[in-house]
Amino acid sequence: MKKVLIVSGHTDLKDSVANDTVLNELKRQFPEAKFSILSELYPDFRIDVAAEQQKLVKADVIVWQFPVFWYSLPSMLHRWVEEVCVHGFAHGSTGTALKGKKLIASFTTGATADWYSHEALGYTVDEILMSQIKATASLCQLDLQDYVYTGGVSYALRTDPEQLANIKALARRHADRVAAQLRALLA
Ligand SMILES: Cc1cc2nc3c(=O)[nH]c(=O)nc-3n(C[C@H](O)[C@H](O)[C@H](O)COP(=O)(O)O)c2cc1C
Repeated sequence: MKKVLIVSGHTDLKDSVANDTVLNELKRQFPEAKFSILSELYPDFRIDVAAEQQKLVKADVIVWQFPVFWYSLPSMLHRWVEEVCVHGFAHGSTGTALKGKKLIASFTTGATADWYSHEALGYTVDEILMSQIKATASLCQLDLQDYVYTGGVSYALRTDPEQLANIKALARRHADRVAAQLRALLA
């Protein structure tokens, strides 16, 4: 039986609607999966590197679930990559611990998907975000899968009850898309 590890990179899930909803839905649909909720495990950003590496070693499929902050990974997830995916473990001539494992990047943005275009921002999601993740996955010999992306879930919209309900609905649909990919990989 293949094992799934879902790494939540949100810096503060207590202040999350979209990512929190996605994670809860995935917990409901995949009760066997392991969840590494970084903001709860390491609120002081002091990551237990050995524990995180062990979780990765045991996993066949890894999901990075995160909100895009400053066109990039949020600091919590970035630090996790820096400290956990180190030379000798994840890359380098003897660093093959992640070789062949599947990686799904699953993320949300406040701006709508239309904003991530040459006409508006000047860059697509592939150019501004996925290029970094592709390069990281390649260095670590991770088998990067199609990404799952939902835009238009800004924290600024949450004060309006209708918008809040819409964000939750978008997040549930997002979780269903991650779940469909996971099921295909686990089959
Ligand atoms: C510090 C910070 C930086 C952000 N940077 C971006 C950004 O670069 N692009 C964008 O579209 N949204 C940005 N946002 C909006 C978040 O991506 C959005 O609020 C998040 O995806 C919603 O998920 P949540 O409800 O789980 O927090 C930023 C939000 C914060 C707090």
